Amino acid sequence: MLKSTKTLAAIAAFAFSAAIATTAQIAPAMAEEAAAADTQIVGDPKKGKRVFNRCKACHTVEEGGPNRVGPNLYGIVGAEFGHLEGYKFSANLMELKAEGKIWDEETLSAYLKKPKDVIPKGIMAFVGLPKEKDRAHVIAYLATFGGPEAEADAADPAP
Ligand code: HEC
Repeated sequence: MLKSTKTLAAIAAFAFSAAIATTAQIAPAMAEEAAAADTQIVGDPKKGKRVFNRCKACHTVEEGGPNRVGPNLYGIVGAEFGHLEGYKFSANLMELKAEGKIWDEETLSAYLKKPKDVIPKGIMAFVGLPKEKDRAHVIAYLATFGGPEAEADAADPAP
């Protein structure tokens, strides 16, 4: 009887340590995944099309589309500030353009979250998209309409 109790205890101890070992291996992997999900949400252009409804009162995005209250946004992702001639941008935006500011995804996301954080005296009267997901989706949608990368591909087609 004593012997089998010992054996049981040994089995239990083994199972316990195995469980700890497994948890210890899984925990960092889960933490890593969570961190990745936090920093880089993958934008979905289809969802972004819906988010863009909130921009449409002021912006078109198709190639050669008209300016409205805001400029046409064709090719905006990766482009320089004030990416288009024939639209009267704010003085503040033009100053930043002169400094060489670019609409990379990070800058776009900050601007769409809170326009005044990027262009304090800018004229885009938009409340902002508080959800990171919405910003990622709409940027992914904008990226389907031209931009420096698309132009580079067109100029240098893959063999
Ligand atoms: C109420 C009208 C309005 C709404 C709504 C609006 N914008 Fe704008 N947007 C503007 C105006 C006006 C400017 C010009 C800003 C300036 O010159 O300071 C602008 C500028 C921009 C620029 C900079 C363009 C460039 O060439 O530098 C981007 C990018 C942009 N808007 C994206 C968006 C997106 C994406 C949305 C929707 C999530 C949106 N805007 C919603 C009016 C608006």
